[in-house]
Amino acid sequence: MSDKREHWGSKLGVILAVAGSAVGLGNFLRFPAKAVLNGGGAFMIPYFVAFLLLGIPLMWVEWTLGRMGGQRGHGTAPGMFDKLDGTGRWAKYLGIIGILGPFVILIYYMYIESWTLAYAWYSFTGHLPFGSGQEEMKAFLSGYQGLVQNNYFSGLGPALLFFGLTFLVNFFFIYKGLQGGIEKLSRYGMPVLLGLGVILAIRVLTLGTPDISLPELSVKNALGFVWNPDFSQLTSAKVWIEAAGQIFFTLSVGIGVILTYASYLRKRDDVALSGLTASATNEFCEVILGGSIVIPAAFIFLGGSAGALSAAQSGTFNLGFVTMPLIFGKIPMGALFSGLWFLLLFIAGITSSVSLIQPAVSFLEDELGWGRRRSVMVLGAVSLLACLPAIFFLGHGFVDELDFWGGTLFLVVFAAIEIILFAWVFGINRGWQEMHQGARIRIPGIYKPIIKYVTPAYLLILLAVWSYQQFWPFIAMKGIAPADRPYMWGARILIFLLGATLAAMVARAWRKKKGKIDK
Ligand code: PFF
Repeated sequence: MSDKREHWGSKLGVILAVAGSAVGLGNFLRFPAKAVLNGGGAFMIPYFVAFLLLGIPLMWVEWTLGRMGGQRGHGTAPGMFDKLDGTGRWAKYLGIIGILGPFVILIYYMYIESWTLAYAWYSFTGHLPFGSGQEEMKAFLSGYQGLVQNNYFSGLGPALLFFGLTFLVNFFFIYKGLQGGIEKLSRYGMPVLLGLGVILAIRVLTLGTPDISLPELSVKNALGFVWNPDFSQLTSAKVWIEAAGQIFFTLSVGIGVILTYASYLRKRDDVALSGLTASATNEFCEVILGGSIVIPAAFIFLGGSAGALSAAQSGTFNLGFVTMPLIFGKIPMGALFSGLWFLLLFIAGITSSVSLIQPAVSFLEDELGWGRRRSVMVLGAVSLLACLPAIFFLGHGFVDELDFWGGTLFLVVFAAIEIILFAWVFGINRGWQEMHQGARIRIPGIYKPIIKYVTPAYLLILLAVWSYQQFWPFIAMKGIAPADRPYMWGARILIFLLGATLAAMVARAWRKKKGKIDK
């Protein structure tokens, strides 16, 4: 069966595709917001700890499990877990999260990605009210999102149009397949993205002290805010949880996407160095580029860390969509830089969103035996329908709810399942050997006990603390306006229905396979 599956065209291609998945809106929008909200230098310590003890080990584990799964004809977690020595019949059902999670993220991710396309267009065409002030920029954004009607927008028409375009481009690349679509997109997209990121970072870092009467608002102090370690907040569980959540989201680990990408490797393709290279590329784009654009810009132009904080508090995306254009309005050739900024976001977004679609496609192809055309068409129709409530009910917390389940909770749960299956059920010794097959580096020995003990313990503690502190308030929707609750329940029901459908498909696929073997 495995020879029917596609393969990546080259080593560099797969690294760029994985890096493309990792580098996304999370790096340039979510990271700066999280870092500012959690106290800058106080965030960076738990962040790097999570990178070393969660992110890197999971990256290696997923590349390894994925490559093993691909050899056995499976590109998604249900088949991979099922075929793993030592697991029982139930394991395939745990694997469902590895398809459901990416799909849930996709529902809102693709919509936000379409805003970046729209904003790039509005920047280049001079429609964005750059120099106008915070309130105006906010009005522009909420008008665009259909939350209010104002003199910028009278309805959701433009948002639907840009969403439609984004959707078509995404599915076009998916339809083109692994080498002809995803790999090509990443090969061209990633260098452009890096180039744009470097240009924008240099532009911001050379701002110096724009207002001489306010010498404290300088690039130097802005960098100090991010990079001076602050140990005082390390006792707060929230900072640790948020940092771990950011690491998962930004690296695309703990969700099933890397498993699928790695399933298209060949048996002796390296995973150790490739996984590390993709992770390092992501971290460069996140802390060096992501950290050098939004945070210093907001720090300098909004009045230091307090100003940046209040902008971030007014909404995760406000730093990117409201503050950045305002700042560009204050520098020469601002419209151009603003356009480049949103173009960068769009490229970062699309190389990630295609990776969110691929697991479902692989599942339909590998487990149900569907052709690519049929898989892509059906999936396209389902995702189009599923995205509509995210577009229409944005103001009612629908997206926040999806983000919590898909973009936060599922990641930690699925990561815990994966690492336990790998290190304890399959066994760390065999796992370690498998990881080093065809490897171009030796992974430092310390990572063996880390993968076996530290990463699982870390994940279980995170889950326990979260459950203890937040499970009930979260389930009961404490603090949520009663008018919004039905929408949030709607999001939960949607996730449940998608999960149930997947479970039924898994059951059916395995019954069929069994039937074939019995004959
Ligand atoms: N890593 C992407 C980002 O930082 O924007 C988002 C993402 C893509 C998360 C794929 C999860 C995933 F499976």
